[in-house]
Amino acid sequence: MTPSAPQQVKEDLERLVPLLEAAYLKPFAQGEAPSLAQAMRYSLEAGGKRIRPVLCMLSAEAVGAAPEAALSCAVALEYIHTYSLIHDDLPAMDDDDLRRGKPTCHVVFGEGPAILAGDGLLTEAFTVLASDATLPPSRRVDALQVLGEAAGWRGMVGGQALDLEGEARTRAGEPVGLSELALIHRLKTGALLRASMELGAIAGNATREDRAALRAAGEAMGLAFQIQDDILDATSTEAAMGKRVGKDEGRGKITYPLLLGLAGARKALQEATERARCLLLSLPNPHSLTALATYLSERSA
Ligand code: IPE
Ligand code: IPE
Ligand code: MG
Ligand code: MG
Ligand code: MG
Repeated sequence: MTPSAPQQVKEDLERLVPLLEAAYLKPFAQGEAPSLAQAMRYSLEAGGKRIRPVLCMLSAEAVGAAPEAALSCAVALEYIHTYSLIHDDLPAMDDDDLRRGKPTCHVVFGEGPAILAGDGLLTEAFTVLASDATLPPSRRVDALQVLGEAAGWRGMVGGQALDLEGEARTRAGEPVGLSELALIHRLKTGALLRASMELGAIAGNATREDRAALRAAGEAMGLAFQIQDDILDATSTEAAMGKRVGKDEGRGKITYPLLLGLAGARKALQEATERARCLLLSLPNPHSLTALATYLSERSA
């Protein structure tokens, strides 16, 4: 019998997160800047849902490969995501002092070291992936290119820049529309979720069609994920989220609840999730991914 969606997600997380956590600290065990390694490990070990690495490994499985085939990609994604959070929390950006239930990296180690911890994680992501001799060179280069584009200024970094500009514009009383907001969300969060699934496809040696389906589904899931993050900022608690909540509105952050109200934001979330679920159905083994898509749209943390 096929397990229910929450049961499937629970089993998948219990299976896949330990694979990630057995691998992701290895590069920081030795080195000539131990205090920097400590700051990088601090943010990695603080926890987190590990959604991107799990999406990556599940995508490899969805096209018939073993999750281990996508492990270096999964590790690289969690490094990039963790770096993006360290920098996102800096005083010059969202200025947050709590992340993953702990004081933020810059609060504990100082701003300079936190910037460098982010830089270290970002570059280590590419080193880890480039060094994975189990991935044939042509697929490795393919994965590096997809990751670079998604993480960089055409993707996450570009989205973070537009997010800051949007904040400044609302503060100045200029309107920002839904299509601009959708672009910000697609870039700042969607790009890395999309890359998570596309890297799983590359590592799993997917067909062109399956890779395209995973890429498109990842895009929709990424939008849904940030809409839900916006909703939770307005409705959840610090204890549940492990980060400060209720700050977006005060900062002038442009969010789905701000533009559409909570009901409108929830509708947009459901639409994006449904789009992702439909796109996944053409894959050889879609069940775990469709279960995760549903679970993420209903998450409370
Ligand atoms: C938070 O991401 C930042 C967003 C892109 C919304 P997550 O909600 O995946 O954060 P962690 O990894 O669980 O801490
Ligand atoms: C973060 O968006 C997106 C990133 C690329 C880090 P948010 O600023 O909404 O994420 P949280 O709410 O601080 O986790
Ligand atoms: Mg932010
Ligand atoms: Mg933030
Ligand atoms: Mg947020």
